[in-house]
Amino acid sequence: MTRIPWWRNAVVYEVYVRSFTDSDGNGEGDLQGIRSRLGHLRDLGVDALWLTPFYTSPLADGGYDVADYRDVDPRFGTLDDFDALVADVHAHGLRLIIDIVPNHSSDRHRWFREALASPPGSAERSRYIFRPGRPGERPGEEDPPNDWPSAFGGPAWTRVDDGEWYLHLYAREQPDFNWRNPEVAQEFEDVLRFWLDRGVDGFRIDVAAGLFKDASFRDLGSNDRRAPNGPIYSRPEVHGVYRRWRQILDEYDGDRMAIGEVWTNGPEDLALYLRPDELHQVFQFDLQLASWSATAFHDVIVAALKAVAPTGAAPTWVLSSHDSIRHVTRYERAGGLPGIGRARARAALLLLLALPGSAYLYQGEELGLPEVTDLPDGARQDPIYERTNGELAGRDGCRVPLPWSGDAEPYGFSPGGVRPWLPMPPDWASLTAEAQASDPSSMLTWYRDALAQRRRLAGVLPEDVEWLDSPGTALFFRRGPLTCALNCGENPVRLPPGTPLLTSAPLYGDLLPGDTAAWLTSSR
Ligand code: GLC
Repeated sequence: MTRIPWWRNAVVYEVYVRSFTDSDGNGEGDLQGIRSRLGHLRDLGVDALWLTPFYTSPLADGGYDVADYRDVDPRFGTLDDFDALVADVHAHGLRLIIDIVPNHSSDRHRWFREALASPPGSAERSRYIFRPGRPGERPGEEDPPNDWPSAFGGPAWTRVDDGEWYLHLYAREQPDFNWRNPEVAQEFEDVLRFWLDRGVDGFRIDVAAGLFKDASFRDLGSNDRRAPNGPIYSRPEVHGVYRRWRQILDEYDGDRMAIGEVWTNGPEDLALYLRPDELHQVFQFDLQLASWSATAFHDVIVAALKAVAPTGAAPTWVLSSHDSIRHVTRYERAGGLPGIGRARARAALLLLLALPGSAYLYQGEELGLPEVTDLPDGARQDPIYERTNGELAGRDGCRVPLPWSGDAEPYGFSPGGVRPWLPMPPDWASLTAEAQASDPSSMLTWYRDALAQRRRLAGVLPEDVEWLDSPGTALFFRRGPLTCALNCGENPVRLPPGTPLLTSAPLYGDLLPGDTAAWLTSSR
């Protein structure tokens, strides 16, 4: 029998390191803090952890601005702490995926400081993308080299003192590497080996579609930023990098993987990255982006599965991450009724876990944490927060530290008396892991139960999805003995035959009221 690689069906838990657990009392999470909570993750029933960047960084973009790819930022710990974490993760029967950020570094990276200190045309500058500007409309004025926008707003170019401009697809503190320079490619191969040698099981590749830019630096114009072969993203040259990385991963014990963060306009383009000699997985954000409707869910699932199927890779599913509004809150807003967000989150979990492939969870969703929308202006740290309709929005609201125990800030996140790096809401006492652990009706218990059942069924479920009915207001599909039903409508629906295994709300006979889901098993 062929062995199924661990990641194909894995439930992976994203740890936003700065907000997970603070062991040393500086108000920020750290690697020792993660070590102290591995029991929580094992009891939750996940298979792997994905750690967001913990490397040396000025944190201009939460650590996605790396100043040293081979070291741990002192606020998060040391390399010894990292080694101890790897050992503990493995001792708990879990796997460890770490983030790698190859598209750009921090402007404090040694290479970028050297680039700034060196003249135009120098070898030091050629590790990044420096270009002359273009004449502006009025005499004496200069425009950036082209019209490319930064994903964080404004132009993707910043001018330095000697008149050259450097490219940054994100914040100006995140200069883009020049991947046409072999030194850059070599450096990242070495960085991969550095962490593989320390025992990591995989990498999450940040901005994986961005590394190569069109060599002519032509304007984007009205072209689609994300279209394959466009000037900015998903250029054909990027695939050579991942084929090389795949060879490196395969040099290890055959069990190391990579998942790319690739934003495309549709799932079809993702298949470009999933050849058997490239990435093992890419994030599929389709479920997260779908509206709460059975037809919307059906259509994105069908499209996502169809796109991945010819590649032989396993699909991936996600509802929330450190970049998005927490789904309890998204669902609550869209549903417009108090409490509906939690009901939908419970139901959505069954959908997520019933699908073939791997599920990526975001820390705190197992506690049902809502988005924190009233962080004071001065507390916000995300470079892209902005005021929309009078409300300050950005990505800090999903990055508030986790509440573990107790009835007031810091809720066990930091040692008592320490103020966490983002303030925690005063009404989170009932959301702590401790408060929920022994409550049979809590979100935490729901996650544990659902993950336990998924684990129990893992070996017996075929990868194929069999749709039982064309979706109206409800969705029904079967994978072997498991049937998943999701009712997105206002009215009860009749369940297919089978024995209820888990239901996100009480069943009344064989009928489900709206915003609920159920798993049924049959011996068919
Ligand atoms: C990815 C990360 C995001 C970061 C960006 C730039 O999208 O998930 O948090 O801001 O890349 O590195």
